[in-house]
Amino acid sequence: MTTASPAPPATESGYEPTTFWTAPKRNFRSSARLHMQHALFQKTIANQLLHPAIDASLSFLTPFRLADLGCGNGVWLSDLHDSLIARGITTHQLDGFDVNPVNFPPAHTLPAAAADGNIRLRTLNVLEDHPELEGVYDVVHLRAWCSIVTKNDPSHTIAVAMRMLKPGGYIQWEETRVDKQTCSAGPDAAPASAVATETIIKIISAGGAALGNTYTFLGSLGEHLSKGGFTEVTSKEYAKRGVDLKAWTEDYLMVWEELPDLMPSRAQAPNSPVTKESFTELFGKCVVETERGVVVHQQGVVVVTGRKPL
Ligand SMILES: C[S@@+](CC[C@H](N)C(=O)[O-])C[C@H]1O[C@@H](n2cnc3c(N)ncnc32)[C@H](O)[C@@H]1O
Repeated sequence: MTTASPAPPATESGYEPTTFWTAPKRNFRSSARLHMQHALFQKTIANQLLHPAIDASLSFLTPFRLADLGCGNGVWLSDLHDSLIARGITTHQLDGFDVNPVNFPPAHTLPAAAADGNIRLRTLNVLEDHPELEGVYDVVHLRAWCSIVTKNDPSHTIAVAMRMLKPGGYIQWEETRVDKQTCSAGPDAAPASAVATETIIKIISAGGAALGNTYTFLGSLGEHLSKGGFTEVTSKEYAKRGVDLKAWTEDYLMVWEELPDLMPSRAQAPNSPVTKESFTELFGKCVVETERGVVVHQQGVVVVTGRKPL
């Protein structure tokens, strides 16, 4: 599904991440949503771009190379570039890779230094073999990547990052806790005030579970890094801020609004418990609930880091 934060479409009979992410539907709307999601991630983690231990490890006097896997519209890279330039650092080379280039910003819109080589965006399925990228990077960054991890097994992604890093290089990975998706109506709400929203959450998580995607690996991402050979692993979860929950809700609603596209119509599947029509009707009720104060949230953002042994 279209999002980092929201879980992949649980209602599909066979979800294939690359097919999903290269579909024509992943267009300017996905990018706009990712811009908002970027702001929300950053507000949740106190605007940290690089973990302090990683920042301290980089020698800014010599060129350092960072890869962002699944960089989307490149907004994280562009903010990192701005923050480095503001510190007088110019030797960075930030490489963004994405299987779908549709949302890459045009080079002529990037700041001159960025367009001249500090930021390079390339179309690439990073899960395939790329020997030329092995041992090249000081830092590999991933964010909102969980919809690309299937069956709760991030080991392939972790191995890809490990291969791309130089010895001593760092991985940094941020996710929202998709596995903790919930909604709340506030302390004074009537008991049935979030019933449609709760039903949608149940449909999504049941559909995900049917495909083996429950995202529980997010609760032990640091352990997965250790298992994958990383050392000096850190893991920290930041609670989402109450003041941001309306915007997170809007972010999830944008994803949910697209889900009927993935569902059979009532005419195609008269016996299906969830159809395009029934979900659309439920979604309409859910929007009304959110307008009355219901918020949808995933409770926290987890940031994990680790180091490739020297
Ligand atoms: C939820 S978006 C997150 C974008 C960005 N990391 C952010 O946080 O704003 C996931 C991105 O991963 C990309 N993606 C999916 N599978 C990929 C693959 N195998 N190789 C490279 N990029 C991939 C998608 O096209 C999409 O842009």
